[in-house]
Amino acid sequence: MIQTICPVCGKPLTMEKPAWHCENRHSFDVARQGYVNLLTVTQKHSLHPGDSQKMVAARKAFLDAGYYGPIAQTLCVLVQQFAPDARSILDAGCGEGYYLSQLDAPERWGIDISKEAVRYAAVREKNARWLTATAAHLPFADGSFDCLLSMFALTAEVEFARVLKENSIFLQVLAGEKHLSALKSVIYPTVLEREKDLHPRLDGFRLLHEETLRFDFSLEDHAMVQNLLYMTPHAWRISREGALALEQTARLSDTAEVVFNVYGRQK
Ligand SMILES: C[S@@+](CC[C@H](N)C(=O)[O-])C[C@H]1O[C@@H](n2cnc3c(N)ncnc32)[C@H](O)[C@@H]1O
Ligand SMILES: [Zn+2]
Repeated sequence: MIQTICPVCGKPLTMEKPAWHCENRHSFDVARQGYVNLLTVTQKHSLHPGDSQKMVAARKAFLDAGYYGPIAQTLCVLVQQFAPDARSILDAGCGEGYYLSQLDAPERWGIDISKEAVRYAAVREKNARWLTATAAHLPFADGSFDCLLSMFALTAEVEFARVLKENSIFLQVLAGEKHLSALKSVIYPTVLEREKDLHPRLDGFRLLHEETLRFDFSLEDHAMVQNLLYMTPHAWRISREGALALEQTARLSDTAEVVFNVYGRQK
């Protein structure tokens, strides 16, 4: 059993309905959809942190249409290969749950700072546990998980190392340099090639395996092109001109370039 901890005082939580609570009487309601909001006011940097309802809905529509199926398949193969006996998996920054819902383990937990995302995830998959929480302060006891995923989300290496067991794995999935270059060339006047460390050294981890997946896909209608924009971080930084240019784009053929880093947790 995974032990959750109170985000306010760090004491163990008793996971009961209608509310989880700790011995210091901090209490967190279980929502109708089954998720629990463990994000405290001090951990929020805005009223609605993380991806908005519009972004989450766009991501769900895009992912459910199957365009990123190859990413999910590679993920499943790597988890099977590097953590075949994993009993517990945590997806940090799980979004609306597309990837975690396709993995198999007795304990599957997803956390995201966006309440909207977690609500969608809880509706998608009833047999996993979903929490609103920040990856910077994970509400789990030390050494809880056999496998941790961060899919296009942030890496909080100290916190990830804390909640992982010894000899567990951390699977980090990053956008490669050429990821969605067609989308970028529509929305930015000049595409700056920013140097990005795609295989970072992480304290407490050893890089065991890296691979890059590339595949092409074609979006045949305007609504799906918009979905692609809104599921990416470009939605946060797009200019008015960029948004207008994409508004006039009825079809788009693009390439996904995705980097998978498998790290072993080491003392
Ligand atoms: C690009 S999305 C990826 C979502 C999902 N992993 C996927 O690939 O479909 C990044 C996610 O990280 C979440 N996020 C941002 N900051 C976070 C934090 N501090 N802790 C947890 N999640 C966070 C966002 O709300 C968003 O759902
Ligand atoms: Zn407490």
